[in-house]
Amino acid sequence: MTREILAVALLAGFGLATGSVAAGPAEDLKVYQAYFEQHFPDFTPEDYTRGMYNFSQDKRAQYEAIMEFPPYEMAVEEGQELFATPFANGNSYSNCFENAGIGIAQTYPRFDAERGKVMTLGMAINDCRVQNGEEPLDVVKGPLVYIEAYMSEAARGKAIDITVPDDPRALAAYEEGKRIYFTRRGPRAFACYHCHWEAAGARIRGNELSPARGQAANFPAYRSKWGEMGSIQRRFKGCMEEFGAKPLKPGGEDMANLEYFHRRLSNGIPLNAPNNRF
Ligand code: HEC
Repeated sequence: MTREILAVALLAGFGLATGSVAAGPAEDLKVYQAYFEQHFPDFTPEDYTRGMYNFSQDKRAQYEAIMEFPPYEMAVEEGQELFATPFANGNSYSNCFENAGIGIAQTYPRFDAERGKVMTLGMAINDCRVQNGEEPLDVVKGPLVYIEAYMSEAARGKAIDITVPDDPRALAAYEEGKRIYFTRRGPRAFACYHCHWEAAGARIRGNELSPARGQAANFPAYRSKWGEMGSIQRRFKGCMEEFGAKPLKPGGEDMANLEYFHRRLSNGIPLNAPNNRF
């Protein structure tokens, strides 16, 4: 398929072309996956978790040198301790998560039928705190992200598995995330897909653009630029700011729906979080 024909197929898949019927999450995933396979035919599932380091030998070497003593390790240890520490009422996080939180991070965000909305892992951690009489935590950095790091480490290697249950509210949340992903914003009218889909692998201001598929497998991450850990929503916010768009609010419903759609793009890719990024 040529790039143009694919673009048309994608538009149809996105349900944006006039008169087209919305394809639905299952069909979407097939179309999206085919697009990335077409552009990166040699990529293994693990390659998708290497993001921009696939496209620059120099940066790949720097990344591998840093990974000899991964800077995220302290966050994992701290997260493990926080996870095990009881709340004032004697309960702890393990009362809120199945399997004591082990091997489940790859299934978040989830659609929560009781609440009728998407719950990211960060929201689930905060929900657990509030249910147990504790204050919610910042969702972009700090202790909550250490707990995410610990829970992700405890699921490393498991294939990302985001489901959209057969519930009109779940479908609406997924469609909303998709709409946000493809919406042009900011003074230069960029949408996420312009850079991480159409231009994936190309260079922009000294950076090689990572493909959207696989990005979500690496977060939370320790970023040299931050000098600390951050959640995927912190990274989303950074991208929006960098291209001049007003960022969505971390912890809010729009961000949660974006994260839901975005992480589902990585279904089948092994979780490789926490990770390290420049
Ligand atoms: C103008 C181009 C541009 C647009 C538009 C853009 N990004 Fe980015 N994004 C970048 C660059 C450059 C980087 C750093 C290099 C890389 O990892 O791709 C990046 C990195 C990322 C990363 C981290 C990838 C990793 O492996 O570390 C995520 C996640 C991300 N962007 C998500 C988004 C989302 C979601 C949107 C839409 C709200 C978006 N980006 C819009 C340019 C862009």
